[in-house]
Amino acid sequence: MTKLSLAKSLGFIAIAISSCATYAETNEDPMVLREIMQGMQLSMQQIEQGIAEKDWDLVSQNAFAIADHPAPPLLEKLRIFAYINTDLGEFKELDKQTHGSAKELAELALREDKAQLQATFTHLQESCVQCHEEFRAEFQAYFYEQN
Ligand code: HEC
Repeated sequence: MTKLSLAKSLGFIAIAISSCATYAETNEDPMVLREIMQGMQLSMQQIEQGIAEKDWDLVSQNAFAIADHPAPPLLEKLRIFAYINTDLGEFKELDKQTHGSAKELAELALREDKAQLQATFTHLQESCVQCHEEFRAEFQAYFYEQN
């Protein structure tokens, strides 16, 4: 990397970080993360319905949707990671568990392997709840209520 492009990159990072700080203090618009979460909640409801009605296509489609859920845009991701800071490893691990359980569930549903389905769904639910218990309240206090 040339000195000039390094300087440019550092400049960009500095701008990104300083705008993170301003955002954190002033921005109360819902984050893209919240929309992603709401989408996952709908998928969970569809999965429950699918299990109740033995509609395995519905289960696998919605489980794949959770497994491949989108990430927030880069700047929001930077703000989140900057805030999560030293707990990032744990946060990412919980996210990984959600992705992993959802993928497992999707594949079980594809194979109509009903024996493990309920347990895997419970596992998936627990992964959501665990991250919420660990992070949600403080996260919301930081991003939405701080002025
Ligand atoms: C790695 C952490 C993490 C995991 C895993 C996680 N969430 Fe969340 N969730 C959050 C955070 C942080 C918020 C707060 C976001 C906000 O308020 O902007 C949240 C908020 C939510 C909300 C509230 C949205 C609203 O309207 O206020 C719902 C619903 C939700 N999550 C559903 C889920 C479901 C369903 C799963 C599992 C399939 C899941 N989440 C997995 C971190 C996580």
